Amino acid sequence: MNTFNQTISCCTQLYQLPLTQLLLGDSFHPGGLTLTKKLAQKTLINRQSLVLDVAAGKGTSAKYLSAHYGAQVFALDLGLENLQDLLPSSSGRNKNLMPIVGDALSLPFVDNALDVVLCECTLCTFSNKSSALKEMYRVLRPGGFIAISDIYLNQPLPQSLTQDVSRWLCVADSCSALQSQECISATGFNKIQFNDESQHLITTIKTIEQKITKMGHLPIIKTQLDKLTDFPFKQLSQFIIDGNAGYYLLTARKQ
Ligand SMILES: C[S@@+](CC[C@H](N)C(=O)[O-])C[C@H]1O[C@@H](n2cnc3c(N)ncnc32)[C@H](O)[C@@H]1O
Repeated sequence: MNTFNQTISCCTQLYQLPLTQLLLGDSFHPGGLTLTKKLAQKTLINRQSLVLDVAAGKGTSAKYLSAHYGAQVFALDLGLENLQDLLPSSSGRNKNLMPIVGDALSLPFVDNALDVVLCECTLCTFSNKSSALKEMYRVLRPGGFIAISDIYLNQPLPQSLTQDVSRWLCVADSCSALQSQECISATGFNKIQFNDESQHLITTIKTIEQKITKMGHLPIIKTQLDKLTDFPFKQLSQFIIDGNAGYYLLTARKQ
């Protein structure tokens, strides 16, 4: 393991766990490729587009954008294991798709280089959200788009929901919907479009709960699942239905 990998964030370690991948599938964000497609349409991604997927996870969205829109896509993540599927294999390499092990807080691109920067369900996990947004702004060309999807938290989580699972679902460290928009506007972005997509978060929570119930008896993952079986998923869903937390899509342009 190299020094870079030794210092990867706990978020990265969490998303590289087989259990996380089993429960979430290949797309580590609510709404999966349905919401990625919405972001692609809003940001006019096409064959000429240079797109960076920041914190790309397993690169599911990056693969989709290069295959369906013909865009040149860079998939950047802190975790090398996450990006394994995108590495060139004996069967060849997709020239439109480039995996990059790197840090969202120090993007390996020159200024004004890209048409679209995508960041799905990760902004809330960055220790310094405003530095991450500044980096995205720097590497975009004037008129270029950011495409964000993320969790918002309008009210503090009740004590019963402040467990590891909330951190794992990225709910624990989120800002409010208003704070997120203010932060994006303060970075210099304009033409902000905000869409509430909270129903996808509720569906994700329901799916995870069902998978845990189904797999609970498997001894190989029982120790890890035990922490999850007691979590009040229904209470979390109700908290979201009541408007205290949710999931949004946001696009904006560099001036
Ligand atoms: C919730 S997952 C989202 C993955 C992907 N965007 C998706 O929707 O499938 C969060 C990802 O952020 C990555 N990550 C966390 N901090 C990062 C950083 N500072 N730079 C790059 N990637 C980071 C983690 O490795 C993990 O893959």
